[in-house]
Amino acid sequence: MDTKTKELRFAVIGWGYWGPKIARNLESLPHASVTMIADLDERRLTGISLQQPWIKTTTELEDVFRSNVDAVVIATPVRTHYRLAKEALLHGKHVLVEKPLTASVEEAEDLVAISRQQNLILMVGHTFEYSPAVNELRKLIQSGDLGKIYSIETERVNLGLFRNDINVIWDLAPHDVSILLYLLGKTPEQVRVQAHAHLQPHIHDVAHLDLEFDDGMNAHIHVSWLHPCKIRRVTIIGDARMAVYDDTNPAEMLKIYNKGADVHADPGVSYRFGESIIPHIDWIEPLRLECEDFANSIRTGLLPRAHGGVGLQVVKVLAAVQEKLDMQEKDDATLVA
Ligand SMILES: NC(=O)c1ccc[n+]([C@@H]2O[C@H](COP(=O)([O-])OP(=O)(O)OC[C@H]3O[C@@H](n4cnc5c(N)ncnc54)[C@H](O)[C@@H]3O)[C@@H](O)[C@H]2O)c1
Repeated sequence: MDTKTKELRFAVIGWGYWGPKIARNLESLPHASVTMIADLDERRLTGISLQQPWIKTTTELEDVFRSNVDAVVIATPVRTHYRLAKEALLHGKHVLVEKPLTASVEEAEDLVAISRQQNLILMVGHTFEYSPAVNELRKLIQSGDLGKIYSIETERVNLGLFRNDINVIWDLAPHDVSILLYLLGKTPEQVRVQAHAHLQPHIHDVAHLDLEFDDGMNAHIHVSWLHPCKIRRVTIIGDARMAVYDDTNPAEMLKIYNKGADVHADPGVSYRFGESIIPHIDWIEPLRLECEDFANSIRTGLLPRAHGGVGLQVVKVLAAVQEKLDMQEKDDATLVA
């Protein structure tokens, strides 16, 4: 078997909500198999030994690092990402870490540096960068079809899932920030934030982020664990056309509107109400494409789309937002005192 078709062995650390979904997609790839699953909580692992007795399960992470797996996927709480990813890289394993890459910029920089020194693939689970709809939208923006982009609004809201180790900004906004950076190919120059901690002290469950890009373009991100409806929407306002990407609507995931307005001195504003188009999108599960990219990168040594450097850029934006929020809350406390 040559290196291109060599059977790749994966371990998954973290067998909660997301870990099994990644394992299912890795298992569906040719010449790849999940041979180990680890979780600190033994109860999570009991079902696996019954259904897939050939997969080794363990609560000892050292077993994973010292095993013969080629790569490790880390699907554990965010604050554990850095320690586990570093350990895996130092043991010579390629690593896919769930989003966000780490809980701080320093940690993300360190992982990127270690992966380079070790000549190993470091990838982050920015699943939406692999969504066929997001890629179609990216083509529309980059080809100029939507014209000059004035603004982008994203909404990612639902009831829960509440986390108690990180706030909603670090939990949900990594998706929106990664989508924006991927669509635009640039990072924001300024950030602003408004956030509220309604249910748990100091753990913000609703947040509004404003990102200012060069040439006056701005993006607004609304993330919430406290909302009656599940909304996963990105709205792009261009001067030629507008587009809505609705991840919860498979029949109309992407819709392009030939709508706009022009302001003239006389006779005032003219509106354009043209046709709407729903482009056909060949759908493949984004997580499958993400896993495929990880496996291909391991085989070829080429950087995956969502490589560690991309994860670092997103963590930089999240950290800048968190810093703004911390400063605002300190100022508010001083005013009240
Ligand atoms: N890409 C996506 O769309 C997406 C979706 C959901 C979650 N995620 C990410 O996946 C990760 C896990 O989220 P989840 O919803 O599955 O959480 P979860 O709480 O359901 O599962 C986490 C699991 O990790 C285990 N665990 C905790 N600390 C551990 C450690 N040190 N070593 C080994 N196991 C440990 C827990 O026992 C638990 O089983 C998070 O980083 C989250 O942001 C990504």
